[in-house]
Amino acid sequence: MADVRTLPDAEVAPDAPPSPTHVTIRREDYTPPDWLVPEIALKFTLELDKTKVQSKLTVRRNPTSATANAVLRLNGDELKPVGIWVDGTPSEAWEMDGDDLLVTLAGDAHEVAIETEINPSANSKLMGLYASNDMLCTQCEAEGFRRITFFPDRPDVLSKYRVRMEADEARFPILLTNGNPVATGKLDGGRHWAEWEDPFPKPSYLFALVAGDLKPNRDSFTTMSGRKVDLAIWVREADLAKTGHAMESLKAAMAWDEKVYGREYDLDLFNIVAVSDFNMGAMENKGLNIFNSAYVLADTDTATDVDFDNIARVVAHEYFHNWSGDRVTCLDWFQLSLKEGFTVFRDQSFSADTGSPAVKRIEDVRSLRSFQFPEDSGPLAHPVRPDSYMEISNFYTATVYNKGAELIRMMHTVLGPEKFRAGTDLYFQRHDGQAATCDDFVKALEDGSGVDLSAFKIWYSQAGTPLVDARVSYDPGSGTATMELEQRVKPTPGQPEKAPMPIPLKTALIGEKSGAEIAPERLVLLDQPKQSVRFEGLSEAPLLSINRGFSAPVVMRAQRGPHDLERLAQSDTDPFARYEAMQDLAMNLLTAGARGEEVDPEPLIRAVRNTLDSNALDPAFKAEAILLPQEALIAERMDVVDSDAVHRSREHLRHALGSSLAAELKRAQASVMAGADRTPLAKGTRRLRSVALDLIAGGDPAEGVRLAKAQFDAADNMTDRQRSLAVLASLDGPEREEALAAFLDRFKDDALVVDKWFAIQAQSQRTDTPERVERLATHPLFSLTNPNRLRAVVSQFAMNHWAFNEESGRGYRFVSDMIMAADRLNPQIAARLVPAFGKWRRFEPKRSALMHEQLERIVGTAGLSRDTYEQASKSLG
Ligand code: PHE
Ligand code: ZN
Repeated sequence: MADVRTLPDAEVAPDAPPSPTHVTIRREDYTPPDWLVPEIALKFTLELDKTKVQSKLTVRRNPTSATANAVLRLNGDELKPVGIWVDGTPSEAWEMDGDDLLVTLAGDAHEVAIETEINPSANSKLMGLYASNDMLCTQCEAEGFRRITFFPDRPDVLSKYRVRMEADEARFPILLTNGNPVATGKLDGGRHWAEWEDPFPKPSYLFALVAGDLKPNRDSFTTMSGRKVDLAIWVREADLAKTGHAMESLKAAMAWDEKVYGREYDLDLFNIVAVSDFNMGAMENKGLNIFNSAYVLADTDTATDVDFDNIARVVAHEYFHNWSGDRVTCLDWFQLSLKEGFTVFRDQSFSADTGSPAVKRIEDVRSLRSFQFPEDSGPLAHPVRPDSYMEISNFYTATVYNKGAELIRMMHTVLGPEKFRAGTDLYFQRHDGQAATCDDFVKALEDGSGVDLSAFKIWYSQAGTPLVDARVSYDPGSGTATMELEQRVKPTPGQPEKAPMPIPLKTALIGEKSGAEIAPERLVLLDQPKQSVRFEGLSEAPLLSINRGFSAPVVMRAQRGPHDLERLAQSDTDPFARYEAMQDLAMNLLTAGARGEEVDPEPLIRAVRNTLDSNALDPAFKAEAILLPQEALIAERMDVVDSDAVHRSREHLRHALGSSLAAELKRAQASVMAGADRTPLAKGTRRLRSVALDLIAGGDPAEGVRLAKAQFDAADNMTDRQRSLAVLASLDGPEREEALAAFLDRFKDDALVVDKWFAIQAQSQRTDTPERVERLATHPLFSLTNPNRLRAVVSQFAMNHWAFNEESGRGYRFVSDMIMAADRLNPQIAARLVPAFGKWRRFEPKRSALMHEQLERIVGTAGLSRDTYEQASKSLG
């Protein structure tokens, strides 16, 4: 090959860690690309440690670009060009600008060819083309394509891809990429090739390639217009038997998207590949979704009910992206919630429709409160559509995903299902094949429905969770009640002043005596700092049922005493509000206890007893309702956090419930459902069983050990096994070690189950947990390079509120050591651990100082990645 130019090593030594470039990218600086790339042809000569990439770009000047720039900027990351050709001739008209390649072009349309060479085996960041086990796979979102070849790696440059792959046939019998296969053939030396074409123009972040020794679970789906689509889930041969649930989930998702959104699949085949080393959950590459194996593989012996639900959810999520993400993509990365918020809303609705909507809503709200609310009230708070970032990988957050979904849910609530559907139909039609913005989405909803939604746009731009106070006064004489509402958003980084937000609150009044709806549900739109609402014609004293179904993602502070809450926990006609009354009742006791106040647990004990005894409630709802709020959630409600006091308070209440309700709880714990049965009733029964077991252990630890060990030994499914082991892991006695050892011995060859073994210990509620977790990190099965394993130990431990915040700071040191060790290998994963320290300002002085110290230590580390630097420096504030 002619003109092989190599650069001085110092300039782009691919092995040296890139020095952190702390440049802030701003949304307001967006300009359209100067050059478009309507077509790209790629040729991969694949090998584990040396892959040649030859790329041919058809480029033309963008007519809508403001500048007539003769320089084509191609992004790169740890790449150096082996050769460059313009219109078939070796070119000298290029230079490097940092990691980017700049090619000077004379005319308006050219063909630019580039050759690069990469080493997938050495790619520990798991971005770009990398090796996992003995296969090769890609991850390109957000900016991984630039680690494969030089390219304008931005989502508003859409190209048609033609891809040729060549590899050793014995090692890599299966070659997959986006779109449809067009030709295959054999080469000398046991090599083979395959050529594929994707007819849909796409941004580079949706490119995917897989090469390996994989076996398919094949099926098919006939679309609403009668087209047959071939479906395949590709895994290692030994895992084939675990792909049935993912396949059923995929077909259910395809049918649901046709029925609910009118969206039909558009290619002749749809492939899913499972890989063991993956930074996130899964990726929606066009026609070739790549999944973390945790979200594909399941059977009842190795996966829990929660795992099964997560697989259905993630398979549906990635499939739904085919329209909300792939057919219509994002203009720039600031618009990430355009695809993610919407797609989360879509997967939440899918799961609600295929299971219990009330329980699904409770689960989604619990996760919003556990992950998004703390983000929104901490130093990393950012709007659903951020205004700036250093590293976009840090913005795949609960705010962009889950608050983004809540924002769309609010507009859905205001419009109702038919008008919302008219809006989304228009959105897909208007923007098909385009890179769009969040504003485009709202505009389409408005134009399609005829409803003005402009007020809701502030939810995209203003960070922070609104606090809403509500108070009802009743005048028996006139039979009227007045509800006073007040809203406030606390300042967040960069946003000291906040404007009032439109907050749709589904509200009803429940009769204090009758327990009936005496004022039927209505949608109250709170959009002023203060507002009052009147209710008339009331025949008895009202109880306030507000933010029913969690219609708005706010912190609701309704003034209701223990008596009112106990009544609502028994009679509220909205299941979410009923759950919420129970949680408020518990939360009030827990926070008072943590402040050192005497509390009376009797109203809660009565409410839990009523719930357990009810014949009207299903077991899954009961389990959610009686589950005590987690310590991190209690801490969120404290002015100053002392994690020991929070723990003591929760343990105290757990003991009170466990000992007062021993008989009722044992009945619930004793009801058994066969492991193979995954009906909502069976799943709910197992869930209630484990929640009851945990309370029993709180009341009587010795009895807890006995029952947990018996449940563990008798378990015929992973749900019962894992939950009983989790209870045992927090208790004393030889049974604990015995069970842990038996579990590992039985499942040591199943990586996903070994992850559970690590996670259970990292979550253990014991004083020696920090010390044990340090030892786990030296266990032969621990790994810093496998994201699932690292998360099983470190993220799970960092979420173990009591143990992580142990007062000597040992837990803090452990996590920051792990962050720094992981940062050298995989910055994305390391950076995701940093928010654990974000609450430092909220803690009592001693812990606060210890956390701060670790953040400073991280920020001061030489050679730190941009990812981790951004998270740690912003956490310091
Ligand atoms: N886009 C993926 C999803 O939400 C998430 C993802 C982001 C995966 C970045 C990998 C890398 O479906
Ligand atoms: Zn997504």
